[in-house]
Amino acid sequence: MPAGRAAVVFTAAAALLSNSAIAAETPDELVARGRAVLEAAGGCTCHTDFDDDGPPLAGGRPLSTPFGVYYSTNITPDPETGIGRWSDADFARAMREGRAPDGSAYFPVFPYTSFTGMSDEDLRALKAYLFSLAPVRRENRPHDVWPPFSWRLSARIWQWLHFEPARFSPDPSQTAAWNRGAYLVHAVAHCGECHTPRTLTGAIDRSRWLAGASDGPEGELAPNITPHETTGIGRWTATDLVWYLQMGFDPDGDDAQGLMRETIEHGFQHVPRTDLEAIATYLATVPPIENRLLDHADHADHADPEP
Ligand code: HEC
Repeated sequence: MPAGRAAVVFTAAAALLSNSAIAAETPDELVARGRAVLEAAGGCTCHTDFDDDGPPLAGGRPLSTPFGVYYSTNITPDPETGIGRWSDADFARAMREGRAPDGSAYFPVFPYTSFTGMSDEDLRALKAYLFSLAPVRRENRPHDVWPPFSWRLSARIWQWLHFEPARFSPDPSQTAAWNRGAYLVHAVAHCGECHTPRTLTGAIDRSRWLAGASDGPEGELAPNITPHETTGIGRWTATDLVWYLQMGFDPDGDDAQGLMRETIEHGFQHVPRTDLEAIATYLATVPPIENRLLDHADHADHADPEP
């Protein structure tokens, strides 16, 4: 490998993992880093039942999908009703392979299809953070989904058809910032889970990556965030995007709603600016796809008003 390229691979890997720093980490530092991972994941707010004043991360939140209503699970360290008995390996397997400790398959409403890209170090830190929280006793609710989507076996078949566990691998031809952004968007922040349309069987349609979805979780519309000029966010500057992810205001001053607002409030607003800039760097390079879901005429008007 040419020396220049080796240096890029090395910096990319170092930016992702910062190995040397991690080796000397204290338990408190591990927990603090885990909190930062949770924030980069948008705060894992699907596991909080805000409508019912549910305790943070104790599950029970209804997530309506075209297949019925799934209830998120308790991910506090309660040994009976949460994940308190899980080993690091159990946690990593759930996140990266979509398997429960008893080996059964999770439904893809749990975005392991993205988390599969996460690094060992980020998963170890995230688990340490979750285990530093107070355990909450709250029984999981059975899903309210019609057959055959309610059968665990169908989740297994779905995985067989659509899912291959795979760690994120940096692209040596890109900069460290681009790779960091790609890692966050693909794996940790799982932007594609909401912003990419799905096929009839509920798989992410990779050919329309980030082109927006009108039937996202809770039936919300998640707009096109490809750099398409008129139907995506092609006219947003990197600063516009960083501002949106920090403050929740788009370039027109409209505030983010619904799930996006939650992920900003409980997560993205705390993410270091360099990471948000890395996200913007990566997003500017994904293929622009035309897909008008929102009326972006407002944004477009700044540049060239339609006649
Ligand atoms: C849990 C689902 C979910 C996740 C995860 C998510 N988003 Fe969103 N996003 C939404 C929804 C829903 C909206 C629409 C918000 C509104 O209507 O105000 C939105 C809106 C946006 C917008 C505004 C677009 C516009 O045209 O107004 C941007 C930009 C955006 N998201 C970027 C991101 C990025 C970048 C990530 C990952 C770092 C991400 N989102 C992760 C659900 C999500």
